Amino acid sequence: MPHLELRDVRAGYGALEVLRGVSLAVDRGEVVALVGPSGSGKSTVLRVLMGLTPLSAGQVSIDGRPVDFRSRGELRALRDRMAIVFQQYNLFQNMTVMGNVTLAPLRIKRWPRAEVEAEARALLAKVGLAGREDAYPDELSGGQQQRVAIARALALRPEILLLDEVTSALDPELVNEVLDTIRTLAAEGMTMLIVSHEMGFVREIADRVVMMDAGEVIEAGPPAEILDNPRTERARRFFGKVLRH
Ligand SMILES: Nc1ncnc2c1ncn2[C@@H]1O[C@H](COP(=O)(O)OP(=O)(O)O)[C@@H](O)[C@H]1O
Ligand SMILES: [Mg+2]
Repeated sequence: MPHLELRDVRAGYGALEVLRGVSLAVDRGEVVALVGPSGSGKSTVLRVLMGLTPLSAGQVSIDGRPVDFRSRGELRALRDRMAIVFQQYNLFQNMTVMGNVTLAPLRIKRWPRAEVEAEARALLAKVGLAGREDAYPDELSGGQQQRVAIARALALRPEILLLDEVTSALDPELVNEVLDTIRTLAAEGMTMLIVSHEMGFVREIADRVVMMDAGEVIEAGPPAEILDNPRTERARRFFGKVLRH
């Protein structure tokens, strides 16, 4: 049974239907890469999963149990199981690294401070930022700030991590340190749904690739199959463009 499953999900913004029947599944411990042209609906899939964009039809299930998005309790439970990191890391500039990572666990979860701080230190070490607890965001590079954002997401102890183009805003020489962090999480068995245009990285890290175009899944399968032998003309055209970079 998949850890996370979308079945025939439709969603949009007002009269604009953006997801036109999306089905995909992520198994426990699996890394699934969501790829496709800009505007194809990748971010909207993640927004639906965080309960930020309502679905108009279809179903999202966790461990085989359909989520009732009308129930506030179920929505809260869903959000508790996921965490999302965006392209723009949006750290609080007036707070230290430690403050950023511990804010939600302390204020929203009300978990004990000693435990939260110990966990934050461990997470910062994992993302390669041991000893930078007292730094402020503007003292860090973009890659370091994005790694703080990943530690902040992990501090909420999610079961599933959603990453939306987390390296797209970074200078090229800073991309790899963030990819290294994601590699570490994958090796530890974190379930992840990753939107990325870094096709080399997708090929290396993804168990499966799901390609979207115009609000639909048009191909899904192992990276080698999808990236090297796409079945559809639309996928061939897309990979022809991105793989040349
Ligand atoms: N908040 C919004 N309001 C209206 N339209 C939106 C909004 N967010 C995204 N869209 C539209 O939905 C479509 C899919 O967007 P998105 O899911 O962000 O695609 P992707 O992440 O694949 O680039 C685009 O046409 C975009 O303009
Ligand atoms: Mg997007």
